[in-house]
Amino acid sequence: ISLRQCNTFGIDASARAYLRVDGPDVLQQLRQLRQDARLMAMPRLVLGGGSNILLTGDVDGLVLHMANRGIDVVGEDDQATYVRAAAGESWDGFVQETLRRGLGGLENLSLIPGSVGASPIQNIGAYGIEVKDTFHSLTAFDLLTGDLLVLDKPACGFGYRDSVFKHALRDRAVIVDVTFALPKRWQANTRYADVAQELASRGIDAPAPRDIADAVIGIRTRKLPDPAKIGNAGSFFKNPVVPAERRNALLESHPALVSHVQPDGSYKLAAGWLIDQCGWKGKTLGAAGVYEKQALVLVNRGGATGKDIADLAAAIQRDVMVKFGVMLEPEPVFV
Ligand code: EPU
Repeated sequence: ISLRQCNTFGIDASARAYLRVDGPDVLQQLRQLRQDARLMAMPRLVLGGGSNILLTGDVDGLVLHMANRGIDVVGEDDQATYVRAAAGESWDGFVQETLRRGLGGLENLSLIPGSVGASPIQNIGAYGIEVKDTFHSLTAFDLLTGDLLVLDKPACGFGYRDSVFKHALRDRAVIVDVTFALPKRWQANTRYADVAQELASRGIDAPAPRDIADAVIGIRTRKLPDPAKIGNAGSFFKNPVVPAERRNALLESHPALVSHVQPDGSYKLAAGWLIDQCGWKGKTLGAAGVYEKQALVLVNRGGATGKDIADLAAAIQRDVMVKFGVMLEPEPVFV
């Protein structure tokens, strides 16, 4: 089956086998899969919205597509309201639904492509917030043991665009649903300069969650390509984190260097700026390109293969290494 509709890069690869998991009894379906020796012998790819993968060729194995739905308030105390969403829900659909129900906490993460089930895998983040900030727990089915796992925050090993699901539990734990603790005492997070500026330009000085969501949607719409129109997977590289000495040395040779200090004293460099300085913004190589308005985003100019994108990424990595001595690490999972 063709996977073109299943990845936001719009890459036309195929899978040997495909299983869509939805309907009322998701666990039953996953247990049945475990009994199927033929399917279990194949390599697996667990797919959500397909917004953080690069298909570098056909998948000679099983693609497992989580498509279960449902959003429920499952508890409440003086600290938080606990909301559970099925893995197959669209991430942004879920964020907007919590806001409609008067629950703040996820507004900065508006309009991020992908599914709820994928959100903890790379600990999605934007505009000063990461999934881990409001994450409570998740349920996952362990295809290796057949156990249903309930993982709390520490068990997920969250890091910057990282979690245990990219490592020990990769392609083994299938995330079934995710529960968020949305704070009763909500506070606006407008520390990210772009958000503060956008709110100011709209004349809003005491923003409600909805105002922040609207501001973020405004910024994202201007800066980032809509995957429905131009294939992409958001930021293609992580922002590299370097020791202070390294950043200070770079700052001397490049006074305009964009960097942000981290809690441990190291610095996060803006990969988009590094790529931009190498002259790659708006450029094209084969059918792959660097987005005109954000150099950190690689795009499919039409008919790109995974190899086209990977070749472009390698060329960018090489140039950034030569000019700045920094190795950029891709953010999407290469399949
Ligand atoms: N910049 C340039 N040229 C460019 C792009 C950026 O000079 O072509 C500079 C900007 O001027 C700015 C700095 O780089 O000073 C940072 O840019 P921006 O605020 O757009 O954010 P980013 O660091 O490029 C990160 C996340 C995004 C997230 C935004 C907002 C990563 C890898 N990316 O991008 O996440 O939306 O911050 O919080 O951390 C994603 O992960 O897919 C993603 C889109």
